[in-house]
Amino acid sequence: MIERLPGLIDPHVHLREPGATHKEDWDSGTKAGLAGGFTILLAMPNTDPPITSKKSFDMALAAAENKSRLDYAQFFGASRDNSRSLGKIATRAAGLKMYLDQTYGPLCLDDMTVWREHFLHWPGYLPITVHAERRTLAAVLLMSILYDKHVHICHVARREEILLIKIAKEKGVKVTCEVSPHHLFLTEKDISPESPGRGEVRPRLGNSKDRDALWENLEVVDCFATDHAPHTLEEKDSKDPPPGFPGLETALFLFLTAVAQGKLTLDDVVLRMYTNPKKIYKLPNQYNTWLEVDPQPTWEIQGANTFTRCGWTPFEGWKVHGRLKKVTLRGKVAYDDGKVIAKPGSGVNIRKKGIILDKNLKNW
Ligand code: NCD
Ligand code: ZN
Ligand code: ZN
Ligand code: ZN
Repeated sequence: MIERLPGLIDPHVHLREPGATHKEDWDSGTKAGLAGGFTILLAMPNTDPPITSKKSFDMALAAAENKSRLDYAQFFGASRDNSRSLGKIATRAAGLKMYLDQTYGPLCLDDMTVWREHFLHWPGYLPITVHAERRTLAAVLLMSILYDKHVHICHVARREEILLIKIAKEKGVKVTCEVSPHHLFLTEKDISPESPGRGEVRPRLGNSKDRDALWENLEVVDCFATDHAPHTLEEKDSKDPPPGFPGLETALFLFLTAVAQGKLTLDDVVLRMYTNPKKIYKLPNQYNTWLEVDPQPTWEIQGANTFTRCGWTPFEGWKVHGRLKKVTLRGKVAYDDGKVIAKPGSGVNIRKKGIILDKNLKNW
């Protein structure tokens, strides 16, 4: 039986352009997106140069306009000294991204007086999206309360984090969050001692208590986000392995497998991969856009058979359920039985002028 699903939205991907197109670019990354059932990707700003000025922001958007095969928006990154430029850029960005703990790339803000400047200047109609682990999460929740601004917490990975967000939500704090497939399906036990670099990711893989707490508190989880973070195998197996896993081409099938196993319903998946990310980031409707999915057949995940330029996956050899038959994007077939049909540059920047950003939509 073929199921029709809405085009999925991934609110957290790294497409590596500008700067590291040997890992990924707007072409290969959006091919991988279509193959994973996504029709909107929101791109992170930790590129090289990072997207923290109008100049680099325009550079990323120019690459996207030429190459993207699906619809997209680009995050703007918070830096030590760009808080005053936020007002102008806000309507053109997916949202503001603040890196508050050390991860891949140069964007990490330690000084809370700098956080304050961004909380003050970022207009309230879009969330402030943060990488904030453990006690940093507690600090940013306090900022959210003090400045009455919505924060969206990226890739929640630990029991202590999901429980804190649960209490914050119960107290009415304006907080939403996302969880990535690798934190739901893997633990530190899955890291191979022969190639530990392949297990490096931020936040790190947790223990089984962390993983179980995410499943037990799924009602607190607003979105599933892949945090697609491609690095080459050569880099992952080097002395100084960069953190990050590719995820665009495996997420839907891992979740369809959880559905087949009775751990989730298809509605749970659609809520977190379409309805909620659309609401949180005030994304426009994509008319005549849908997926045709056969949820039953099983297949084996193989890094060698992927569109992402990094060519590997932390789920190598996993048997998963579900085949993506077809993606129709704005009335045109964009992906058909393993083949990407959409052309580079056919994707639309959903924040470009003329596409309405409804500032009054309630977004949490
Ligand atoms: C991400 C990357 O490689 O850009 N890496 C990661 O381990 N998640 C950065 C990030 O999302 O923190
Ligand atoms: Zn992060
Ligand atoms: Zn990320
Ligand atoms: Zn099965």
